[in-house]
Amino acid sequence: MNPKLHSVLTINGERRDVLAPASATLLDALRSVLGLTGTKRGCNHGVCGACTVLLDGKLARACLTLAADVGERAVVTIEGIGGNGGLSPVQRALVEHGAIQCGFCTPGVVIALSELFARDPRPDRGAIRGALSGNLCRCSGYAKIVEAAERLAGEAR
Ligand code: FES
Ligand code: FES
Repeated sequence: MNPKLHSVLTINGERRDVLAPASATLLDALRSVLGLTGTKRGCNHGVCGACTVLLDGKLARACLTLAADVGERAVVTIEGIGGNGGLSPVQRALVEHGAIQCGFCTPGVVIALSELFARDPRPDRGAIRGALSGNLCRCSGYAKIVEAAERLAGEAR
């Protein structure tokens, strides 16, 4: 028996009702209940970073966070990163620099870099690599991702 719980979550600025099993993770709620499938399920146990979201502006693994524990914290997913349907500066930099291959890691990478640029608009290479240390990319070898972030940092100088 896995009783369902009702939670009201703030997702990308909107209050959303979630009725899900008590054991549901935030990742389950986003993808299976709310249809927000931009947040990816990779390892489902906290290793790959594909499920990264922001909780009150801080990085969080949605696969390790119980939906019922989110409470009043504001959730930002990849769907909430661009403004007015457009690309955010981080997204634009990745696209323009050819830093996306299969794209599976990209939502988590965008969230991680967005968190970095929010607290440090001009990060150096070490800070960029550090910010990406929790996000596995099987395709790119990271070079293009790091270069895209460096270019964005350069635009702010
Ligand atoms: S799916 Fe959450 S860290 Fe891999
Ligand atoms: S672009 Fe394929 S996993 Fe990163």
